[in-house]
Amino acid sequence: MTRYRLAVIPGDGIGREVVPEGLRVLRAAGARFGFEIETTEFPWGCAYYLERGEMMDADGLARLRDCDAIYLGAVGDPRVPDHISLWGLLLRIRKAFDQYANVRPIRLLEGIPGPLAGRRPEDVDILFVRENTEGEYSGLGGRLNPGTPHEVALQTTVFTRRSTERILRFAFDQARLRRKKLAHVTKSNAMQYTAVMWDEVAEAVAHDYPDVQVWKLHVDAAAYQMILHPDWFDVMVGSNLFADILTDLGAALQGSLGLAASANLDPTRANPSMFEPVHGSAPDIAGQGVANPLAALWTASLMLDHLGEAAAAAAVFGALQTVVRSGERRTPDLGGHSTTAEVGRAVAEVVAGGAAR
Ligand code: NAI
Ligand code: MG
Repeated sequence: MTRYRLAVIPGDGIGREVVPEGLRVLRAAGARFGFEIETTEFPWGCAYYLERGEMMDADGLARLRDCDAIYLGAVGDPRVPDHISLWGLLLRIRKAFDQYANVRPIRLLEGIPGPLAGRRPEDVDILFVRENTEGEYSGLGGRLNPGTPHEVALQTTVFTRRSTERILRFAFDQARLRRKKLAHVTKSNAMQYTAVMWDEVAEAVAHDYPDVQVWKLHVDAAAYQMILHPDWFDVMVGSNLFADILTDLGAALQGSLGLAASANLDPTRANPSMFEPVHGSAPDIAGQGVANPLAALWTASLMLDHLGEAAAAAAVFGALQTVVRSGERRTPDLGGHSTTAEVGRAVAEVVAGGAAR
């Protein structure tokens, strides 16, 4: 029987509540489709930091390296500055393992009204590809004369031709697997160096994909069009910051951050990829057992796909769609009264072959 070694980092807040539901559903899928999930849990995150002064162990990356995939809940705690928790764990893993493609499906599920009047599931089906290793989040910069009136803060944006080209190629490849339309998000009117190079690379790469219809649009226009005409988009690709922002907008189009899934992929497979819901630790609802686990479950489906378990991935996605459609088990963010565990159990039952509850 195939056995997958999964590194599990529940993290903080609702990360600890949704990850167990993800594992429940993964085990149900394994039982049905004939594979085993062997988990190693790592207690890293803000609680760890408050105790030990570091977000993860010094040899943490080495300990993750041999796993088949990493499943992460969320990190963040009001007692720890967000730039410490983000850089100390998540961004460290994404960069060290060169997980350069952050893939985020934006789909309106059947049964969810969504915030846009008159829009149906077939109108909102976008695959967002985010550059995940450099750009505005390269981490280069500094502060001079801190706290004085002469203070200078620099945050350097880095676009390398190599990384720009590989993320665009990845996005074109995804478009080929779908409706063959690619929108690339730029801001080359105001950013005459980085974004102009991005446009040039996009144009050059497009020559290799004559079958894909390309649309270049500025990030502000993209935000506008995603609301008015979500149906115009198939695959979208953008830099780290632009796509970070637009994918939260995408989560809103889906009706809740509690539905937004993501995969941090190293498409070369030289390193393990990491799978995490888009949402954070949600301190406002943490500890109440009401977090929506569906983003984490959809994320688990993306992970199964990456592991080569396409049928199991489709079953997990189909099961969460079934549970959402039936409307009987919904967390409060979707207008329901169910708990995190009730929704997780309902999806696991459908995956296992039972009926939707
Ligand atoms: P957030 O995503 O944690 O929460 C935003 C809003 O959405 C809150 O009202 C929350 O209750 C709601 N929400 C999020 N996920 C939900 C779910 N599954 N079910 C129901 N409601 C849900 O973002 P926020 O508040 O900006 O950040 C909180 C902390 O999380 C911060 O420390 C931040 O740095 C961190 N964060 C971590 C991320 C990660 O680990 N990937 C991503 C985003 C934020
Ligand atoms: Mg974000």
